[in-house]
Amino acid sequence: MKNQWDTYAKVFEEGMGEGGDELHTKLINPLIFKFLGVYEGKRILDAGCGNGYLVKLLSKQAKHVTGADASKELLKLAKKRTQKITNIDYTEVNLLDPLPFAHASYEVVIANMVLQYLPQLVTFALESADVLKPSGQFIVLVDHPGHALFDRVQELAGKPNPKWLTRASYFTSGQRRKKSLWDKAILEYYHRPVQEYINVFTPYFKLEKMAELTSDSETPRILGLLWTKI
Ligand SMILES: C[S@@+](CC[C@H](N)C(=O)[O-])C[C@H]1O[C@@H](n2cnc3c(N)ncnc32)[C@H](O)[C@@H]1O
Repeated sequence: MKNQWDTYAKVFEEGMGEGGDELHTKLINPLIFKFLGVYEGKRILDAGCGNGYLVKLLSKQAKHVTGADASKELLKLAKKRTQKITNIDYTEVNLLDPLPFAHASYEVVIANMVLQYLPQLVTFALESADVLKPSGQFIVLVDHPGHALFDRVQELAGKPNPKWLTRASYFTSGQRRKKSLWDKAILEYYHRPVQEYINVFTPYFKLEKMAELTSDSETPRILGLLWTKI
């Protein structure tokens, strides 16, 4: 099957543009930079870098930024976006496999809106810990899975939200489908309750901060986790 991100790379680029869509500029980017603090001089891995918008922003102060992604089409767009910048490199990776980077070679690993598309997180947890230096930062942002609880209640009340195409309990992990990318795509993703995001990383990382963001004061929208390598 063709990678869904290759299929929708053009749609994604149109919606995200240079600095990200409204969700990124209003909620996601401010949280990432708050978690990062001072990152001047650091080597950063943007795991699942998409169209490279964050790689470009980070490259202004970081020593070096690696953008890694499974989508050839998104990597092409990312390379085009940042072709004149010298402290950036890109690698095609599958985050379900061992990472092709040296042990302890980054001070920061960021997974920005990526992990909800991976069927398992065990490999990525182990591999991120391996490529990070001691006390390195591990920053995770995902769609907040609490939306599933909200949707379940709407469904039980007879008013299901048409965005979510798979209906199941908040506690049921697994593959689901949703309308996404500004309603221009149907994407497969993996739902897991918050406890799974916490428990899979605790063998390797200490949780420093957790953030739950909303854009409408009701529905949980973004779950952000800041960890340091143990
Ligand atoms: C919602 S996009 C987020 C992109 C970018 N981080 C952002 O916030 O704009 C999800 C990204 O995860 C990547 N991705 C999904 N599954 C992957 C995998 N198994 N290995 C590597 N990248 C993957 C996709 O190619 C896509 O770029």
